[in-house]
Amino acid sequence: MSSPVCIVTGANAGIGKAAALKLAQRGACVVMACRNAERGEAARMEVQEQSGNERVHLMSLDTSSMASVRAFAQAFGERFERLDVLINNAGNFDLAQTSPLMTDEGLEMVLATNYLGPWLLTHLLLPSLQAGGGGRVLNVGSKGLMAYPFLRLEFDNLDGSKKFSPQRAYYHSKLALLSHTIELAKRLEGTGVVANVVRVPAVQVDLDRLPALPGWQLAIYKLKRSASITPAQMAETYVALALDEAWASVSGKLVDEKQGVVGWPRHAQDAEAAAELWRLSAALVGVQDA
Ligand SMILES: NC(=O)c1ccc[n+]([C@@H]2O[C@H](COP(=O)([O-])OP(=O)(O)OC[C@H]3O[C@@H](n4cnc5c(N)ncnc54)[C@H](OP(=O)(O)O)[C@@H]3O)[C@@H](O)[C@H]2O)c1
Repeated sequence: MSSPVCIVTGANAGIGKAAALKLAQRGACVVMACRNAERGEAARMEVQEQSGNERVHLMSLDTSSMASVRAFAQAFGERFERLDVLINNAGNFDLAQTSPLMTDEGLEMVLATNYLGPWLLTHLLLPSLQAGGGGRVLNVGSKGLMAYPFLRLEFDNLDGSKKFSPQRAYYHSKLALLSHTIELAKRLEGTGVVANVVRVPAVQVDLDRLPALPGWQLAIYKLKRSASITPAQMAETYVALALDEAWASVSGKLVDEKQGVVGWPRHAQDAEAAAELWRLSAALVGVQDA
């Protein structure tokens, strides 16, 4: 069988880069989907050199921009006949952003980056995922959501105008992604394509990536960091879900960093809310046929 084609979004740093390397080391054809050409190319060269795999590609993708997502999906379809694995890893968790920031397309930035972009990307790439007969979608959740048991999908606050904090916006976007994945897995039943979420616990983030944090937040972060796992450890789970035969037909599951299936948060399992979220998301990203 030819090598699996895998897309990793946000692949120039952290867990995404570690996953791209492990996928390349296992012989996959890896598309590193990054928003910054310079950081992306530096990471691509590193992954290619360290893995010795020539099939490591860089493609431009900003998940906060639906125009960029559409351009990426079109360019991918022109270059590749099929897609085996889509890892929606890119994430925005900017503690320094204390009020809603709107994208040029009128979407709240955190929701757009972490949820609406992955929603549209998955939708547009479904034909490519189905072309290989058994595609896998891996969305990236956060264990920190467990600290927000009262958070619900806020259909009247998708732009953050009613209430906003960076934490709230981030965990709300992850809740939306969980709810969406449950619904997606149901809709994909019988197609051969599976969809799961990996629940990421505290993972070390490169300190150079946090320059905007005030001193006290940086001090707290450094403490937390010492108790966190490494991106490479977390990437093991991404890669198992992406490539291992054991996960080929598992769908609609939440999986922790030890590759154990865990229960969905209760508030992600509301089927009515998931259906409403699907409808609103399609409208927000301009999709009529979903
Ligand atoms: N680290 C943790 O403790 C933790 C915990 C729970 C969940 N997670 C989740 O794990 C995933 C990976 O996080 P990480 O720890 O590896 O973070 P990271 O080291 O900060 O890497 C994030 C990656 O996402 C990219 N990205 C951000 N916004 C983007 C956009 N609009 N379009 C395309 N790429 C974008 C970044 O690119 P740039 O270099 O251009 O910024 C970077 O490559 C995220 O979904 C995050 O929410 C992490």
